[in-house]
Amino acid sequence: MNKPMESREGSSLAYFTEANSAEVVNARMAPDTDPRLREIMSVVVKHLHAAIKELRLTTDEWFKAIDFLTRTGKMCDDVRQEYILLSDTLGVSMLVDAINHDRPEGSTENTVLGPFYVPNSPRFENGADISLDGKGEPVLVKGRVLDQAGKPIAGALLEVWQANADGFYDVQQKGVQPDNNLRAAFTSDANGEFWFRSAKPLFYPIPGDGPVGEMLAALGRSIYRPAHLHFMVSAPGYDTIITHIFTPDCPYLQKDPVFGVKQSLIAEFHKFDDPAEAERRGFKGPFWSVGWDFVMAPKALPAA
Ligand code: BEZ
Ligand code: FE
Repeated sequence: MNKPMESREGSSLAYFTEANSAEVVNARMAPDTDPRLREIMSVVVKHLHAAIKELRLTTDEWFKAIDFLTRTGKMCDDVRQEYILLSDTLGVSMLVDAINHDRPEGSTENTVLGPFYVPNSPRFENGADISLDGKGEPVLVKGRVLDQAGKPIAGALLEVWQANADGFYDVQQKGVQPDNNLRAAFTSDANGEFWFRSAKPLFYPIPGDGPVGEMLAALGRSIYRPAHLHFMVSAPGYDTIITHIFTPDCPYLQKDPVFGVKQSLIAEFHKFDDPAEAERRGFKGPFWSVGWDFVMAPKALPAA
């Protein structure tokens, strides 16, 4: 027969009542519980119990919450992470990022990573066209990677990914879009410069067919992410930048369901109609151009 698991429980204060509920639950933690786990659980239990008391939660409402969380879990698989989407839409992902990447003034701000990043994107030379389906309006993206003193950082890795003109990432449409459509990695040159051709991004919906979509609909919230290009910029010794650049003319800038927009990440896009300029840049007709410099902050030293 299996031996019952040995309990290392802490002291019982008293029997559970509404008034002392959080204290009784937290007092059960064993004295040798990992201190950070103790701190996290104490705070979570304290606030969860306070919220339930403030709301006077009904049994039906409690069951709806359990059902929502159960369905959220069932929606998750290797490619769909409904819990991260829940964290994103509750502003939790952006809050954790803000706490952990409070960069010095002047360096590029982070925003949400999102579920469509794929490591090890194909590497291209500067100037490549990453729009493999040819949809949408062409855009030239160019800029520099700099340190805080404005010195170029050569050899920085710039990973870029974006949705196509139909509003989907390549990984959402395997067999429909070419693999690695609008997804690539570039390296900044000796002057810290990078440039490539792509499609001007458009707004698109986050996956809305699960519990998170239901929640947003019930709250009257938009599911459209404002038009953006994703970047992950890394270089040895610097804090990796995970960010977007947004188009300034998107009607959803103020309604981002994942709260990823920051004023400092809204870029200027200019339209060029001159055929000679188009030819010089490798386009067949009118194109947009956006210039963007990434300013990297040194990697924070681990706390002593
Ligand atoms: C994205 O921008 O790719 C994204 C971010 C958060 C949730 C869903 C999509
Ligand atoms: Fe995106």
